[in-house]
Amino acid sequence: MPEETQRKRVLSLIQPTSVPTIGNYFGALRNWADMAEDYDCIYGVADLHALTVRPEPAALRRQTAEVMAMLLALRLRQGNNILFVQSHVAQHCQLAWVLNNYTQFGEAMRMTQFKEKSSSHADNINLGLFSYPTLMAADILIYQANYVPIGADQKQHLELARNIAERFNGLYGQVFTVPEPYIGKVGSRIMSLQEPAMKMSKSDPNPKGSVSLLDPPEQIIKKIKSAVTDSEACVRYADGKDGVNNLMAIYSCSTGKDFAAIEQEFAGQGYGSFKQAVAEALVEELCPFQEEYKRLLADKAYLEQVAHEGAEAAGRIAQRTTAKAMKKVGLWI
Ligand code: TYM
Repeated sequence: MPEETQRKRVLSLIQPTSVPTIGNYFGALRNWADMAEDYDCIYGVADLHALTVRPEPAALRRQTAEVMAMLLALRLRQGNNILFVQSHVAQHCQLAWVLNNYTQFGEAMRMTQFKEKSSSHADNINLGLFSYPTLMAADILIYQANYVPIGADQKQHLELARNIAERFNGLYGQVFTVPEPYIGKVGSRIMSLQEPAMKMSKSDPNPKGSVSLLDPPEQIIKKIKSAVTDSEACVRYADGKDGVNNLMAIYSCSTGKDFAAIEQEFAGQGYGSFKQAVAEALVEELCPFQEEYKRLLADKAYLEQVAHEGAEAAGRIAQRTTAKAMKKVGLWI
């Protein structure tokens, strides 16, 4: 990564909590790939964030390497781009601690994800879960990121990061770049196949609700065919047709066709042939990725080398921003 660059910088992370879904893919990862050519991109695995739900240690370690292999399989490490693992760059935690002091309790309390996760993990509402958004703000601000490609569910966290940056800059002068979210028009909120009013999630206990990026073709076809729709038997995008709208979004993301073209293509046909087409398009989209992923995962030494180089390159940028912020607030460094 050159020290001074004219190109805008992009940053985004994904948690290694389990195999990413097509929600993560269409909402975020695919946009990461689209931006990888035109920007200096820093992408990574948010393993520190995953600790908030206390994962099984061996699973966390394994999944971190697996997600790294997925990011490589998506060709996210081209040009000057950096791929790294969050915990390998210690400054994220240092800066997050500083930012905690510029974030109000009330602001953190308002985070929808905190409210949702507190109710789904009622036995473990820990401080990590509560301060999750300030660590996320540190992830972004530490790299002076201009754009952050995310799904709609992370928009509120991004807004908080912007507020923290503006507050800090207001007090101490220009320290952080104020980041902009990049949220795609279609696919920013892929819904569960079984409960289409809820977002598709890696942690959904119902395996039929989500398609993972590693599901084999037969399973993808089965899951799409059993997706909940409605009794109208008409492929059109409309309020109250959450299941069909969701399948249309998946089809649109996989084929590049817009909703009007999709309605026309399936006019007068029932959901059977529509679902078949959605499943086939999805299989076609994911197959090359799955092949490449398997090849990369088998090469552990290469994955370790990528993580090591990523940590060094990311660490150099992170160190500069952290030192600046620490000096500004009066720490003797
Ligand atoms: P995570 O790991 O839950 O999800 C990774 C990305 O996938 C998007 N996403 C979705 N998009 C569309 N439809 C869905 N059903 C869907 N589910 C997930 C998420 O919006 C996200 O962009 N806190 C973040 C990780 C993170 C981060 C960051 C992101 C940590 N630090 C700094 C950006 C910048 C998270 O839990 O994402």
